Amino acid sequence: MDHFLYRDGALYAEDVPISEIAAAVGTPFYVYSTATLLRHFKLFDDALDGTDHLVCYAMKAASNQAILKTLAQAGAGMDVVSGGEYLRAKAAGVPGDRIVFSGVGKTADEIRTALSGGIRQFNVESEPEMEVINAVALELGVVAPITVRVNPDVDAKTHAKIATGKSENKFGIPIARASEVYAHAASLPGLEVIGIDVHIGSQLTELEPFELAYTKVAELTEKLRAEGHNIRRLDLGGGLGIPYTRSNDAPPLPVEYGALIKKTLGHLDCEIEIEPGRLIAGNAGLMVSKVIYVKSGEGRDFLILDGAMNDLIRPAMYEAHHDIVAVQEPAPGVERQPYDIVGPVCETGDTFAKQRNMPPLKSGDLIAFRSAGAYGAVMASEYNTRPLIPEVLVNGDQFAVIRERPSFDEIINRDTIPSWL
Ligand code: LLP
Repeated sequence: MDHFLYRDGALYAEDVPISEIAAAVGTPFYVYSTATLLRHFKLFDDALDGTDHLVCYAMKAASNQAILKTLAQAGAGMDVVSGGEYLRAKAAGVPGDRIVFSGVGKTADEIRTALSGGIRQFNVESEPEMEVINAVALELGVVAPITVRVNPDVDAKTHAKIATGKSENKFGIPIARASEVYAHAASLPGLEVIGIDVHIGSQLTELEPFELAYTKVAELTEKLRAEGHNIRRLDLGGGLGIPYTRSNDAPPLPVEYGALIKKTLGHLDCEIEIEPGRLIAGNAGLMVSKVIYVKSGEGRDFLILDGAMNDLIRPAMYEAHHDIVAVQEPAPGVERQPYDIVGPVCETGDTFAKQRNMPPLKSGDLIAFRSAGAYGAVMASEYNTRPLIPEVLVNGDQFAVIRERPSFDEIINRDTIPSWL
């Protein structure tokens, strides 16, 4: 459920008409709903009710500081995957002891940044990385809390580009080598081993892969404890999928996911962390764009938008589906017609949807991409020297621009010309 609903035929974000935001900030733009963000966070928090837990929002999904602050004020921790994300979370006011550092290639500088500023734990992905965290901790005279990310060799049954839990993927250490790697970690004086981490992929639409992975983590917990390790925290990653279409085959709910966690791991008396990103932000955001031209092609009509693949890359990159709706609903009974919906970038890949049934649209009409809050703005680029589009946050009847559209001067002046030119 989200808070982007029609009232008298006009699409609203909470209590603000989308057309009002468009008039104020211009198109294209991203708009997020505070109520939806908070609702989704609370679904996870409530799903783990009764267990010692922390929901660490995977901020890679949407990392604007206003979003981070909204969630942190509700009690969220953060899952970060770079020094930049760490600093951004800190800038948004998240305390270090609520920040978890994941990611397959943390550099010594990034590790230093996090250890100096305070960190809840590093999720270590390899033995070489473990050695570097140990060395930096010793250099700073601190002890780094760590979990080791294990790769359980489970098929997440999702898009190949976002599946991470199979043995051929670059993530984690093979679960079969865990004893050896934990013994190594325990021998390093700059590290304190506190738990186990696992993350098998994103946009999972079934619980079964989670169940397989978490059952393996439960077995490993008992094994490592028997080997003398004080395993007391389990980080279970993110990955629960969202409905991208309004059909019946919706993914499992957070409450069902929470029940599975309790069933598979509840007996171990561990603190539980989860790292959801998409489910919190995905359906809490729209990308709003304007039709520039309607062009008749050979046997098909194209809607040419002012938004493009550089603003929302998911359809081009993962063949992802986003529901696309007219901001002004058509009059009842108006017949829909198929359009190819495209951006103005000079690539055929800049196609959002083919033969999508839409109400008749004309130049100047506004349309909205649903489910664009996660992996939307954060994956945007300035390809074709198109400015990064603004982000807007709505809260009830108020809205605020939370990232401005840069001017062309700002973009162009970022280049520097060498002395020989
Ligand atoms: N934790 C770790 C270690 C991760 O790698 C990820 C996502 C998450 C948590 C959050 O997963 P979520 O709950 O959002 O599924 N750009 C792609 C998605 C990439 C996901 C990468 N890792 C997309 O647009 O579909």
